[in-house]
Amino acid sequence: MYQLIEGVKIVPSYNDIMLEERVLLSSGTALADVSTDRCSTPYCRDAIIPQLPWRKPTVLEQQILFIRQFENSSNLYVIVFSIPQNILSHFNDINSVKDPRELNYFFQKDRVKKGISLIQEHIETFCLQSADITKYGIGWNAPNQMTVTVGADNCKVGLHIDNQRGSSLHRILINLGSEPRYFLFINLSIQQLYSLVLEIHSNAISKTSGSSRICMAFMQLFPNYPVVKLRVEPGEAYIAPTEHITHDGCTEGTNSLDVFFTLRAIFDYQGRVQQSVVMSRDPPLNPSY
Ligand SMILES: [Fe+2]
Repeated sequence: MYQLIEGVKIVPSYNDIMLEERVLLSSGTALADVSTDRCSTPYCRDAIIPQLPWRKPTVLEQQILFIRQFENSSNLYVIVFSIPQNILSHFNDINSVKDPRELNYFFQKDRVKKGISLIQEHIETFCLQSADITKYGIGWNAPNQMTVTVGADNCKVGLHIDNQRGSSLHRILINLGSEPRYFLFINLSIQQLYSLVLEIHSNAISKTSGSSRICMAFMQLFPNYPVVKLRVEPGEAYIAPTEHITHDGCTEGTNSLDVFFTLRAIFDYQGRVQQSVVMSRDPPLNPSY
């Protein structure tokens, strides 16, 4: 078992849900086995994915992964929270969509369009700057996939970093599907990966190496370092610095389409947590929604 290093933290944003019970750790990482891949979309030749089995974190590992309060020295957090029911109710019929080809029709329904505009308004309440909330994406993934992201070469890229140079934008992703999905990540920033790689192999990377090169070098040199698997229930969202940490989505163990809403913006994490606390303390104004 490889000792976790202090790095990117998960913020428990609920009063009533113990996020600690939502987290598993992998046994490290490994090259995806292309030859035995059961997925319809194959893995790219150099894709690296979590190594099974998953296990529960120890108490010490939980202390390393979770924070109780924000630290001024870092803005790299992962947070999970629920979307209000009055917004989610617009997507109730998602269960009836069995085939991805039906999704275009589903998202053209007036009720669903209204739900999307409510999501946009809701996200604006915890953005630090006025985000371009028109640049959102709606997508789907097949069920029961260890990792989901498909790259330009039409193969699954495995664990990755979103942007080679890393902007200040973080990603929100809302689980609009009917089953849990997972956010996979390594709890270390790209700067931490860079330093750790240089300690072992001074020639492996240089200052001009892009994020992908650095994160691949880290996983090759530290194959026992665990990947965090964080469960995101239907109707919940996560925000994560996906341009600064190694990550992917995961639909392991599911049977239905994974449908999601996503966009990038600069988020007010502390404001988002405060909203969650207020929401979970207050009784619902209208119990029927
Ligand atoms: Fe990504």
